[in-house]
Amino acid sequence: MDFLVVLVSILTVALVFVLWIRKKHAFWKELGVPYVEPHFFYGNFKDVDQYQHDGQFIQRFYRKYKGRSPLIGMYTFLKPVAIAIDIELVKNILIKNFNSFHDHGTYYNEKDDPLSANLFNLPGTKWRQLRHKLKTAFTTGKVEMMFTTMWEVAKKFESKIGEACETGGEFHNRKLMTRFTVDVIGSCVLGVEANSLEDENNGFFQVGMSIFHNPRHGMRFIFLLNVFRDYARKLRFKLFRDEVIEFYTRIVRETVDYRLANHIERNDFMQLLIKLYTSKGEDKLSFNELLAQAFVFHIAGFETSSTTLQFCFYELACNPEIQDRVRNHIKEVLENHNGQLTYEALMDMKYLEQVLHETLRKYPPIGLLPREASQDYKIPNTKCVLKKGINVIVPAYAIHHDPEFYPNPSRFNPDNFSEEAVKNRPSVAFLPFGEGPRICIGARVGMMQTKMGVIAGLRKFRYTLSPRTKQPLKLLSKFNVIYPEEDVWLNVERID
Ligand code: HEM
Repeated sequence: MDFLVVLVSILTVALVFVLWIRKKHAFWKELGVPYVEPHFFYGNFKDVDQYQHDGQFIQRFYRKYKGRSPLIGMYTFLKPVAIAIDIELVKNILIKNFNSFHDHGTYYNEKDDPLSANLFNLPGTKWRQLRHKLKTAFTTGKVEMMFTTMWEVAKKFESKIGEACETGGEFHNRKLMTRFTVDVIGSCVLGVEANSLEDENNGFFQVGMSIFHNPRHGMRFIFLLNVFRDYARKLRFKLFRDEVIEFYTRIVRETVDYRLANHIERNDFMQLLIKLYTSKGEDKLSFNELLAQAFVFHIAGFETSSTTLQFCFYELACNPEIQDRVRNHIKEVLENHNGQLTYEALMDMKYLEQVLHETLRKYPPIGLLPREASQDYKIPNTKCVLKKGINVIVPAYAIHHDPEFYPNPSRFNPDNFSEEAVKNRPSVAFLPFGEGPRICIGARVGMMQTKMGVIAGLRKFRYTLSPRTKQPLKLLSKFNVIYPEEDVWLNVERID
C-alpha cells in the first residue's frame, strides 16, 4: 500500500513537471509566432557549441523563416528567446525602440567576480551612467592621441613578420596577430608594455588567450547563467577563472598605485579611469568598477581586432589580386602624404577600410547580438507582444550572409563597401560593432589598430596560404567569438 502511494506520488510529480515544461514550451505557439520545436530540457540550444559556430546555427533558421515572419521563437532551456529576422524589426530593436531593449541580458556577479560587472554586462541605469562617464575616453580626439603609441607597436609587428621571412617564411596566423593586438591594447588601455611580440610566454598573452580558449564555463553553461541570473548569483558563480581575476586585479592595482604615487599621467584609457576613481563627485568609480572596465576594454579590445586581422590576412592570401590592390593603394596614399603615416593618411585609405569592412562582414567577431526586453514591446504590424524579460537575438552573422544585402555572400568582395553599394543597403545590414546607443564603444580604436596591422603587414611583404592550412576553412563551434576551427598558417615573403 505504502509503495503504491509513493509510486503514485512520484508519477504525479513527474507528470506535473512534464506538463509544466510543456506549458513553458508552448509560449511561442500560443503567441502565434513561428517557432523551432524545442528539446525537452535544453530548449533549442542543445546543439550550441557542438557542431556549428553559433552565428551559423541561427542562420539555418533565419534562412528558413525569412519573409514568412518578422521573428522566430526559440527557447534557451525554458526561457523564450526571439530571433529578429525582419530588417525593420532589427532597426527598431537596436535603434528606434532602444528604450525597450537597452540591456544585453548577460550574467554578472559584482560581489564574487568583480571583472564580470563591466560595461558589456551591466544593465539599466548602472549601464547608462557608466557609459556616460566612459564615452569621453573614446572621442575622435582621444583616439587620435593613441596613434603614435599604436604605430610604434605596429612597427615592431612589422619587424616580427620580417623575422618570419628570414626563418622559413611561414607563421601561425592567430598567434602573431594576437601578440600584436595584445601589445597595442596593453599600451593604449592598461598603459603597460605587454611585450608579447618579443615574448609569447608573458602573462598578458597567456592569460588573455586563456580567457577565450580555456574559459571557466562552456557556452551552454553560460546560457544557463544568463537565464538563471539571480540563482546563479546566490550560488556565487563566477564568469572568469580565479587566476584571471587575480592577474588583472594585481596588474591594475599595481598600475594605479604606481601612477598615483609618482604623479604619472599618460594618454590612455587608464588615465581616464584613474581620474574617475580619484574624483569626488557623482562620477566617482570604486576600485572594482575601475578594474572591471580596464578588464573589458582589454579583452574586448584585443581579441576582436585579432580575429579581424587573422581573417583579413587569410582572405588576402586567398585573393592575391585584392592583396596587390590594397597594397598599392596603401603605398599611393602614403606617397600623397610624403611617405609618412599620419592620422589623416590613415583616414584617406578608403580601399583599406573597404577590405576591413568586408572582413568584418564575412567574419563578424560577435555573430549574435544579445538584447533583453526591459518592458513589454508590441511588434509593429503584428499582434505579438514581447513580454518584459524576454531575450532577443539580432543575428548579425546571418544578416551579413543574406544575398538580399550581399550578392554572392560567401565571396570576399571589398566592393560590397563601395559608396554606392553602402547607400543601396539598410544601414543595419552591417553590424560588426552592433548598432544604436549600445554600439561598441571602442569601434574607432578597433578600426585604427586593425588598419595599422594591415599597413604594417602589407607594405613590405606578400602572403600566400601555407599547404598546412586546411581548406575550406571551417568555423569553430565551441566559442561565441569567431575563430577558424583549424590553425591557419601563412607563407610570407619580402617584396621591398
Ligand atoms: C574590430 C574590433 C571590435 C569589434 C568587431 C567589436 C565588436 C563589438 C560588438 C559587436 C559589441 C556589442 C554591441 C551591441 O551589443 O550592439 C561590442 C561591445 C563593446 N566593445 Fe567592442 N569591438 C571591437 C573593438 C573594441 C575595442 C578596441 C574596445 C575597447 C578598447 C571595445 C570595447 C567594447 C565594450 C566595452 C563593449 C560594451 C559596450 C556597451 O555595452 O555599452 N571593443 N563590441
